Amino acid sequence: MATTNSSAADVRSTRVQALEAAHVLQTYTRQPVVFVRGEGVWLEAADGSRYLDMLSGIGVNVLGHAHPALVEALREQVGQLTHTSNLFFHPFQGPLAERLTRASGLPRAFFCNSGTEAVEGCLKFARRFWYTAGTPRTRLIAFERGFSGRTMGALSTTWDEHYRTPFGPLVPDVQFVSNEDPDDLLSAVDHDTAAILAEPIQGEGGVRPLPPQIVAAINQACGSTGALYIADEVQSGLGRTGHMFHFGALGLCPDLIALGKALGAGFPVGAVLVSARVAASISAGDHGTTYGGNPLACRAALAVLDTLEQGLLEHVRRVGPILEAGLRAIARAHPMVTEVRGAGLMQGLVLDRDAGPVVAIALEHGLIVNRTAERVVRLLPPYVISETEIAEALRRLDAVLTVVEEPEPCRKA
Ligand SMILES: Cc1ncc(COP(=O)(O)O)c(C=O)c1O
Repeated sequence: MATTNSSAADVRSTRVQALEAAHVLQTYTRQPVVFVRGEGVWLEAADGSRYLDMLSGIGVNVLGHAHPALVEALREQVGQLTHTSNLFFHPFQGPLAERLTRASGLPRAFFCNSGTEAVEGCLKFARRFWYTAGTPRTRLIAFERGFSGRTMGALSTTWDEHYRTPFGPLVPDVQFVSNEDPDDLLSAVDHDTAAILAEPIQGEGGVRPLPPQIVAAINQACGSTGALYIADEVQSGLGRTGHMFHFGALGLCPDLIALGKALGAGFPVGAVLVSARVAASISAGDHGTTYGGNPLACRAALAVLDTLEQGLLEHVRRVGPILEAGLRAIARAHPMVTEVRGAGLMQGLVLDRDAGPVVAIALEHGLIVNRTAERVVRLLPPYVISETEIAEALRRLDAVLTVVEEPEPCRKA
């Protein structure tokens, strides 16, 4: 990668941060680094320093940065046609829907622009299904520690009170149940329950795979009451765990699937996939979005699916266990790591303390990871990561944990 004139870059970077501090609504706490380009699993900052990206923009850049297939698809499409609205046909939405429906087994797709919107769509379509059936059901069951996004509907099925409390009242008729005790779910679901929403692996909740007893309870509750199951695969889906969709690996059978993040690999795309019976309940005008599924978005998603099919999914299946084994070795060497959780390239190191300092020191070591659920260091690397790059990430993580473990007086700046 090219190096930059570091003093010029520093000035630019200081200015970037000052402008944001003055004019951008302060809803995010950013790390003090300004990224200017990326290639594969590497990001380059304005001062020329390079970082190994083990987070992919929170599970998004699955092809790595500047992947030729994505660059080429977007470059070609942007010069032809970017947007026409959903008032008209264009050549790419149908083929994308065909590919996603074939892969998932759910026959119809609706396109939107983010994971949050995909969850919104799922909630609306679930309620519409029961309304159309003539037996309106409104109750929604979601799980403790679950995260669905931050619009009013998605926030209503997001568990963390910190996100919810200032914005009430939220959508009514949502009940949270334990993600460990199946009886809690079984006693909550009744014949007024429209749907149960669950992430096959909770991402923001601390990289927590749904335990088998909860999977069995979801299947049992849906079977006995007719409640629909919504699989929120925004973070766990589209190859992240080595499976196209993680619900299948667990033995779940959704009526609705929410997708986002990986689908556009950096271009904003979301999708809802629905079963035939849900699809039959939806009429023109029930839902919509101006941008959803535009030519550019669909080309990005098709490039992702092509790349996954051309060997990338196989690659994730091969390197996921290598990453996991390396993390387990790190856990054995560092008593502060109490557990390694996840599947494939979605992994969390659970610590006996706040993960914040680990993330900050990792950045100083040129390693990008993030903190979730307070004590979890989350890793969501690009799918294209090589074995050598995994080894380098593990080496850096090991060094970071060693620094964090050092007695306070010896800690490096
Ligand atoms: C499981 C899950 N659902 C929904 C969302 C919301 O997606 P987005 O923030 O991309 O709109 C997220 C985001 O982290 C997520 O992890």
